[in-house]
Amino acid sequence: MHNISSYEETIENFTWKSVEEELGYKPGDTINIGEYCTDRICRLGMGKRKALIWQDHSGNVKTWTFDQMRVDTNSIAWYLENMGIKPGDRVCLFMDKVPELYLGFLGILKMGAIVQPLFSAFGTESLETRLEDAKTTAIITQKKHLPKIRNILKDTEYLKFIIIVDQKDELHLKDREHILDIENLPKLDHFHTYKSTAETPSVLHYTSGTTGKPKGAQHVHYSVISQYITTKYSLDLKEDDIYWCTADPGWVTGTSYGIIGPWANGITQCVLDSGFTAEGWYSFIEKHKITVWYTAPTAIRALMKEGEEVIKKHDLSSLRFLASIGEPLNAEAVLWSDKVFGMKFHDTYWQTETGSMVISNYPCMKVKPGSMGKPFPGMEVGLVDINTHEYFDKKGVVGIIAIKPGWPAMFRTYRNKKEMYDQKFVNGWYLCGDRASIDEDGYFWFVGRDDDVINTAGHLVGPFEIESALLEHPAVAESAAIGKPDHINMEVVKAFIALKPGHEQSKMLELEIMNFIRKKLSPLAMPQEIEFVKSLPKTRSGKIMRRVLKAKEWGEEIGDISTLENNM
Ligand code: PRX
Repeated sequence: MHNISSYEETIENFTWKSVEEELGYKPGDTINIGEYCTDRICRLGMGKRKALIWQDHSGNVKTWTFDQMRVDTNSIAWYLENMGIKPGDRVCLFMDKVPELYLGFLGILKMGAIVQPLFSAFGTESLETRLEDAKTTAIITQKKHLPKIRNILKDTEYLKFIIIVDQKDELHLKDREHILDIENLPKLDHFHTYKSTAETPSVLHYTSGTTGKPKGAQHVHYSVISQYITTKYSLDLKEDDIYWCTADPGWVTGTSYGIIGPWANGITQCVLDSGFTAEGWYSFIEKHKITVWYTAPTAIRALMKEGEEVIKKHDLSSLRFLASIGEPLNAEAVLWSDKVFGMKFHDTYWQTETGSMVISNYPCMKVKPGSMGKPFPGMEVGLVDINTHEYFDKKGVVGIIAIKPGWPAMFRTYRNKKEMYDQKFVNGWYLCGDRASIDEDGYFWFVGRDDDVINTAGHLVGPFEIESALLEHPAVAESAAIGKPDHINMEVVKAFIALKPGHEQSKMLELEIMNFIRKKLSPLAMPQEIEFVKSLPKTRSGKIMRRVLKAKEWGEEIGDISTLENNM
């Protein structure tokens, strides 16, 4: 039995009010994600159930029950409040997938601050841009990431507290640095959780666009209504499940479905704080008897590459449901998983901005390999014309995916960029910026993005950020960054560079520039390939035409280039 047995019937009867009632929420009530994921679950009698099973790269395991998690998140909330952090302040999490990341996330929300998770592999510039935009008050981190923070200290005077979770020795602390040692915090059975209401800001996720700096998508506590019910219906989680979401909470999947949704359902989650190997992943599933697994197409393709021998060495019979997110899930990957695991990966589609799933393949529904599935109940999802942005209802015609605003997890603004936020809403629809078509049966088929943002291994990277960073290198005069097809990561970054006079292209210089970007931005933003060119194709107004570079890489028609200043 699945949590929903008929998609059509669920669509027919679904109301957001019924979800609110299921969660015991009434409009105007206080609602706090930290409380919903811990105290509420304990009140429902599930305090003894395991909430977190965490494993590090050496195989060491630590576990928390919901009751222990309730107490530890109280303690963290108390610690932060005591320190002088106020509701509404931004508190950044800059850590690997250590337990403090998960407990800290809920603790921050419990004391009313806004949690700002950032990917720990970010380099100094990526980090600083996001801290600067959010005017972050505190950052919680590990010793190993301290050098990056110390590096940008002089330009971040708004950052009052640097909180280290794995240091015991106060002697070596520098300016603004503090220690948070969960094991030695007073165990607080009660904490006066901040009385947030539906529209109180909760999570701030930075996401990249085509132009400008990354934008902070601001979510609110009410989002838990969407995250709870999408987890229940699309991932089909039930009380006995052992669930594994492979995403890092630096990205929205790792928070909406790696923290909030599952814990609001009282589900046991596993976390593997270790890099990817097929052997490591299958051992993890086997060891913890994982039943539901949510991962990304890049990981699935990497597993496909490793072949079936490694699968045969493991007992993976605990698995019962597989789902995927972040990039197009090719039909081949779905058919492969059916063959080797005896079940198909179910694609889901959504974005940082949507906060929760928009389109899914529900377990009760036939999977059409290669399709993203159908809209979530209670959400009106359709297509608008690529040029006019008018809604249309024609089967098989490509348009931009659009959603009628009003679902609970919708972002409420881009921090400091209200105009950009407003531009996302046209003719009464929120435009996702992705192209798709809908077939005769109402299934959505992804076609591509409507902009130049690069999706590498399921993560969005803004070409403008890379180009700006490249220009900071002394040898670079002009640059353009595009996504180039890749059989594992879907796309990788390729940079086109025109050098300044007096600089010669060489393998050494290429590696130097790659490393420069890796350190400044992140390993994902690092160009995997650099092509040195004399000049870049530009419009007469001086705008670089990435479209032309991209078409060449993807073997597509270049299209109208009448506005091109030079023809490369
Ligand atoms: O282009 C779409 C792609 O990833 C974008 C959202 O990225 P982000 O905000 O980082 O959130 C990722 C995780 C929720 C989308 O605009 N994308 C996401 N899911 C799919 C997808 N592309 C194709 N198929 C999908 N299932």
